[in-house]
Amino acid sequence: MDSNKLRKKFLDFFKEKSHKIVSSSSLLPSDSTVLFTTAGMQQFSQYLSGEKNPLKDFKTRHLVDCQKCFRSDDIEEIGDDTHNTFFEMLGNWSIGQDEKGNYFKEGAIKYALEFLINELKLDKNKFYITIFRGNKDIPRDGESEKIWQDNGIPKEKIKEFSEKDNLWGPVGKTGVCGPNSEIHYDRGEEFGCKEPDCGPNCSRCQRFVEIWNLVFIQYYKDEKGSYQKLSQKSVDTGLGFERVAAILQEKTSAYETDLFLPVIQEIEKLCSKKYEENKKYFRIIADHIRGSVFLISEGFFPSNVEQGYVLRRILRRAIRYGKIIEAKPGFLIPLANKTIEIYKDVYPEVFSKQADILTVIQKEEEKFEKSLEKGLKEFKAQSSKSKAISGKVAFNLYQSFGFPLEITKEMAKEEGLEVDEKEFQEELKKHQEVSRAGREKKFGGGGKFSSKLHTATHLLHGALRKVLGDKVKQMGSDITSERLRFDFSFERKLSPEELKKVEDLVNEKIKEDLEVKQKEMSLEQALKTGALAFFKEKYPERVTVYSIQAFSKEICAGPHVKKTGELGKFKIIKEESSSADIRRIKAILE
Ligand code: SER
Repeated sequence: MDSNKLRKKFLDFFKEKSHKIVSSSSLLPSDSTVLFTTAGMQQFSQYLSGEKNPLKDFKTRHLVDCQKCFRSDDIEEIGDDTHNTFFEMLGNWSIGQDEKGNYFKEGAIKYALEFLINELKLDKNKFYITIFRGNKDIPRDGESEKIWQDNGIPKEKIKEFSEKDNLWGPVGKTGVCGPNSEIHYDRGEEFGCKEPDCGPNCSRCQRFVEIWNLVFIQYYKDEKGSYQKLSQKSVDTGLGFERVAAILQEKTSAYETDLFLPVIQEIEKLCSKKYEENKKYFRIIADHIRGSVFLISEGFFPSNVEQGYVLRRILRRAIRYGKIIEAKPGFLIPLANKTIEIYKDVYPEVFSKQADILTVIQKEEEKFEKSLEKGLKEFKAQSSKSKAISGKVAFNLYQSFGFPLEITKEMAKEEGLEVDEKEFQEELKKHQEVSRAGREKKFGGGGKFSSKLHTATHLLHGALRKVLGDKVKQMGSDITSERLRFDFSFERKLSPEELKKVEDLVNEKIKEDLEVKQKEMSLEQALKTGALAFFKEKYPERVTVYSIQAFSKEICAGPHVKKTGELGKFKIIKEESSSADIRRIKAILE
């Protein structure tokens, strides 16, 4: 079964069962506390929590979709048989239980078995099931265990696990969650470690692949980490599209299915190596180019912060692996074209944005190509003479040759070396301080006025996102002694009304005389708590987050004023186009 047919079959199956087909939401989640959409349920989280009523917006409690997802946590795993950065998740939902015809555990389990066995003709004997073992907060899921048994799954194939595997969610720090029950597919002994305790979630081998996750949403995890019982119960499921496609096409991994094979074959044409002997490299390149195509199609650009950093990291990683398999310079472009070809009918945005996608990839490749060779030489020289890669060396590779720290770590690992990350961070911090001092000097007067304009820029960013929506992303910023300039992604000219709203909102926040809070934390933590990036400066591991109540929260090196009341009156003096889909605002403080 080709993959397009699988996608359609899933949607049709649930449509027949009176589910409404909902389109995939963007890879940029509306909840800004997380970087990417990593699960199908994100666009429905407010319905699952009970804040919104699905009947009002969808006229039904039953939904089905195929969601584009991106997980940067799995980057290290890429190359094995079952992980991808970008992937698609098929899902069905039953939200709330107050009506006849809604389903919970039994319905979800029966539908899943019916789809896999009757529609896809998978062999039930290969299914293994996991359930939640229970903990101090949430009881063991004996109910699901019984339903599986009643539906023909023998007891010995049902295994229980702790919260790490079988208590799903929330996606961010807080949110809806619940115990889950998964279907794992036994790929056969040849994929196994042959240890007696091998089974689903085996840490040694990939014999058992999780294909379908059925989540029974019943709780809300709050700020304190406690589980609050929701007033309603819901079903959230996620079926791994690539994994099932591989099974149906009788392939070891998705890389050999119609989703990737044309790209893998193209890589073979563009380099001097064969896939069979270099699977990991080929797979990483194919995965990363696909991820990049989708990210760029949604307006992400390579940069040193947030999502842009992830995009840069996967593109540069693909380029480095390209070097290893001796791929021709410029090899990413034909691969991007192949990827677009595969997906253009299902996701028209990859086709309509083709020109942008190719330009961004080409530019990034040219940029990194220039320094890659020199950086590799430098790395070699250093690694051959010492037992570890010092933070200074890693920082130099980052600063002068554009090597993301993770790439240096990966190269070091290949040589059996470690990188002194602590020292790397210290170097970064030093650098950050130097550039900050430089900035303050440039502004003169101890930077007092520049502090005001910095804070005003944060307020402007916050106001733009309030008025125009969260898709507004900072693309650049510049401050002189007279004005601030702010570039952001937005597809059209702002109306005079919108500009007025933005200006008024900023002035309102100035009037409220809010405190500008400053907090230092790890970059990871900052991004997790939803801080946005401000200056496009180098990517530090420890960052300062400035926040103005809930209105604005950004990673920034400062400096800022203490209270917004110090700013005076904010005035927009110009709004214009900066480049395609990027607007520019200039503003002053009076
Ligand atoms: N939310 C669950 C997951 O991501 C099921 O859709 O696995």
